[in-house]
Amino acid sequence: MSSSNGKIITIIGSGLIGRSWAMVFASGGYRVKIYDNQPGQAAKAVTEIRKQLGELEEARMLRGERDATQQLALLSSHDDLAQAVEGAFFIQESVFEDLGVKQSVFQALESLVGKDAILSSSTSCLLPSNVFSLVQDRSRCIISHPVNPPYYVKLVELVPHPETVATVMDTTHALMTQVGQAPICLKKEIDGFALNRVQAAIIAESWRLVQDGVISVKDIDLVMSEGLGMRYAFIGPMETMHLNAPEGLEDYLKRYGEGIRRVLTSFGPVPQFTGEAAKSIIGELCELIPSDQQHLSVRRERRDQLLMGLAQLKTQHDTGSQKTSD
Ligand SMILES: NC(=O)c1ccc[n+]([C@@H]2O[C@H](COP(=O)([O-])OP(=O)(O)OC[C@H]3O[C@@H](n4cnc5c(N)ncnc54)[C@H](O)[C@@H]3O)[C@@H](O)[C@H]2O)c1
Repeated sequence: MSSSNGKIITIIGSGLIGRSWAMVFASGGYRVKIYDNQPGQAAKAVTEIRKQLGELEEARMLRGERDATQQLALLSSHDDLAQAVEGAFFIQESVFEDLGVKQSVFQALESLVGKDAILSSSTSCLLPSNVFSLVQDRSRCIISHPVNPPYYVKLVELVPHPETVATVMDTTHALMTQVGQAPICLKKEIDGFALNRVQAAIIAESWRLVQDGVISVKDIDLVMSEGLGMRYAFIGPMETMHLNAPEGLEDYLKRYGEGIRRVLTSFGPVPQFTGEAAKSIIGELCELIPSDQQHLSVRRERRDQLLMGLAQLKTQHDTGSQKTSD
């Protein structure tokens, strides 16, 4: 019997992220109850998911061992919060990114769920200390921050509240792994978590290089898409250093450590992202990709198609290497 058999997960908020979570958990065989405080919204989400599951099945991109009809049968929509959380062992909140709204959602949840249920938030930017401040028992609270779209980009950042117990981190990590996500654990809370801090550092230096007249908007994006990003899709900065010197990381640091330190000390101040510089960078980018819906949709579709292909390539490769090592 699979560990998901009959177990219930509730999704609170059925927007972009709530719907994606529902699909991810259903692919792992969980019963998923979807709740939204806008009447009828959760039912609309199920209709939308039905369409997406059908398309994924057609494109042979459906995750999990069950077919689209079986996965759809695991979903239910609810307009009543108490009914939605009944029997759930894990609650994934995915409402608007608004501290007050999230705080009141978790306060309401605490009085409705079983004492062992894990309370998890999808927040991108809010700290656990703030999100869970109105919850009495914060030992079972956690942030599970997905990357959009979670169906193809599997990273989930698990961020504990200072009072979160280790078993809650472990159970959430095991759940995310079981449904095919790639969870990582932060040992303590920090503004921006890990992903957005690294992303902010990349944005800041890219912005400064364009603002200071060193490089064009088009070419700085190529630095990532045709350079760093090619390997960052499958190895991170630490492994990159390890592989880029004949004898590994220690050797790399001996060869390049001083150079990296020198470059780092030449970085400019935090960009303001406003004024003439912003106007000029926005103008340059919009000449390449106009910001009307038609052009943006075409580029988003291209991004999602390529992400899908990349996810497929990584899965095929991992399955292939597992077979070889068996
Ligand atoms: N969109 C992204 O790229 C992304 C990525 C990672 C994390 N997140 C986080 O996920 C969360 C949801 O983002 P989204 O993009 O899905 O938003 P969204 O606007 O698409 O959906 C939010 C949904 O929550 C519902 N809602 C609002 N208040 C509610 C309440 N009190 N109770 C129940 N439902 C309520 C809304 O009706 C709506 O359906 C946010 O915290 C966001 O920061 C978003």
